[in-house]
Amino acid sequence: MGVGIKEGLCVISEKAPAKINLSLDVIRRREDGYHELEMVMTMIDLADRVDLYEERYPVIRVESSSGVVPSDSQNLAYQAASLLQERYRVSRGASIYIDKKIPVAAGLAGGSSDAAATLRGLNRLWELHLSLDELARIGEEIGSDVPFCIYGGTALAKGRGEVLTHLPAPPSCWVVLAKPAFSVSTKEVYGALRVDHITRRPDTDKLVQVIKAQDYEAMCRLMYNVLEEVTMKMYPEVGTYKRLITRFGADAVLMSGSGPTVFALVRQESRVRRLVSALRGFCRDVYAVRLLGHGLNLRENVQK
Ligand code: C5P
Repeated sequence: MGVGIKEGLCVISEKAPAKINLSLDVIRRREDGYHELEMVMTMIDLADRVDLYEERYPVIRVESSSGVVPSDSQNLAYQAASLLQERYRVSRGASIYIDKKIPVAAGLAGGSSDAAATLRGLNRLWELHLSLDELARIGEEIGSDVPFCIYGGTALAKGRGEVLTHLPAPPSCWVVLAKPAFSVSTKEVYGALRVDHITRRPDTDKLVQVIKAQDYEAMCRLMYNVLEEVTMKMYPEVGTYKRLITRFGADAVLMSGSGPTVFALVRQESRVRRLVSALRGFCRDVYAVRLLGHGLNLRENVQK
């Protein structure tokens, strides 16, 4: 999250961390096609870096270190920059470079976090002086997870994901993630979900309580994601990953968002090492990171 100067023009870097769901419940399908949710999300120390370079003319350019990330208007960071520029009639432009570390279409909100980092960074670069709440309202127009990514930390999210209650950081632990070699479309998973067929749901109120009480064991017991069953039916490999990770030893194992990434919470460092080396035997994308539940002091990066 630095600021620099390149050829006389300002350069800003923002960290864009991934999120995991400690729970995800779908309450009902709405008239607008979205689903009413209740979920607990927290950020992890697996992050992209978004560099923003000021352009004198009102152009928006996006480049990324990853071959699979679009650089046109399909890119959420591009959409965020264009929307901000248009809404506040900004006459300057920006070149956006995304150093991609978060796997794409993985259930980790990588694209949403890039968009949120772009909004925070451009707010500074273009000297718009918007509050985080104002940035979150703009982010909502880009995607349901963008408002959470604006603030970071840990939150209970309701509505379509944008109605946030900030929570204290969960008890500290390691997060081991395994991303299968395929990607999943969130739209497709929600499309296949039948709300009246949901047989088990997380106790979200209880989960919030135990996070506040810093009760790690109870938190692990209460974690649940109703989309897991749907994604597993479409992609049985997700179930295989879950069973394997459970067998290798973890305190809790859950799919994040609509998947396909499966993550484990582990407290003991020696068990983290064992789990990572066991997983590397059959999965290329394995990560061991810490929770970033307190957030990134993101507020310090935004001019009010
Ligand atoms: O909001 P976002 O564009 O990230 O959502 C992607 C897709 O996921 C939506 O088009 C919708 O099909 C589904 N979705 C949903 N209910 C939500 C969030 C997303 O049905 N609360």
